[in-house]
Amino acid sequence: MTDLSAFIRGLPKAELHLHIEGSLEPELMFELSRRNKVAIPFGSVEEVRAAYAFSNLQDFLDIYYQGAAVLLTERDFHDMAMDYFRRVAADGTRHVELFFDPQTHTDRGVPFAVVADGLLAGMAEAGREFGITSSLILCFLRHLDEDAAFATLKAAEPWLDRIAGVGLDSSEVGHPPSKFARVFAAAGERGLKRVAHAGEEGPPEYVWEALDLLKVDRIDHGNRALEDPALVQRLAAEGMTLTVCPLSNLKLCGVSDLRLHPLKKMLDLGLRPTVNSDDPAYFGGYVGENYTRIADALALTKSDLVTLARNSFTGSFLPPAEVAKHLAAIDAYASAS
Ligand code: HPA
Ligand code: ZN
Repeated sequence: MTDLSAFIRGLPKAELHLHIEGSLEPELMFELSRRNKVAIPFGSVEEVRAAYAFSNLQDFLDIYYQGAAVLLTERDFHDMAMDYFRRVAADGTRHVELFFDPQTHTDRGVPFAVVADGLLAGMAEAGREFGITSSLILCFLRHLDEDAAFATLKAAEPWLDRIAGVGLDSSEVGHPPSKFARVFAAAGERGLKRVAHAGEEGPPEYVWEALDLLKVDRIDHGNRALEDPALVQRLAAEGMTLTVCPLSNLKLCGVSDLRLHPLKKMLDLGLRPTVNSDDPAYFGGYVGENYTRIADALALTKSDLVTLARNSFTGSFLPPAEVAKHLAAIDAYASAS
């Protein structure tokens, strides 16, 4: 463990790439399985953890959607969110923009209202209890079709004043951003921010499409953008934020060793990466652990870590005055450390 871990814990951070369903720990999965009388194909917490050996994104998604089946009530979504916030409060996280996948639940008969109201209740409580601010990003599942995405946007209509933006997740290869150009345009017309997973497993072309067709405000992951120098130049020129997830990339075999992770290269190329956990219950670490492990693997300096933390606020959807307040807190902390 690096001696930077105490510095990292005290560093004010925002998390911009967190699937709330991916924070469902096996312990809570078992509790909800009992509470809701929903069977899960595991005998123990240890058996669940042993099943978390993935060789690619789809391996993970299959088990992640299965795990989400225990979530039925507002209280379940609230409890899952509070479990997450309790952990990241201890990590020095001040702000979270969390993804949720409504279609994973509405397709099982759980109403959109149950999902959104449960999460919003947990977010409000985390604000009161831990002083963490948060907002919601509604993700469309890209393995489903455009009509289903439009239906989800329609179902979300009454909550749009409490939703910061839309995103695009699930199985990337074979489901290019172009499939969702019209629904992203409709979301933009409603004043929503736009983000998309691109370049996690998919090619650089998908990152171009996310920029040009979806008009995204951030790229989620973006690792494979480094294969295309013209794309790197574009991302740097636009100051585009990349929400990078080191332990996720390791667990899903995007990199074979954290020492080979492209995060430092992204910084050196003048890009704007941030550090995030993606699905912390499945990938072996919350946001603080992602910072600590990648700092260790790539020998990041305090100055690199400050840049990454600053990027997490400048890339957030917080109002400029809030961003400025967090940046001042980072600078004060860095100069006192
Ligand atoms: N990638 C794509 N879709 C996802 C992920 C991910 O890491 N986690 C949850 N949905
Ligand atoms: Zn993700």
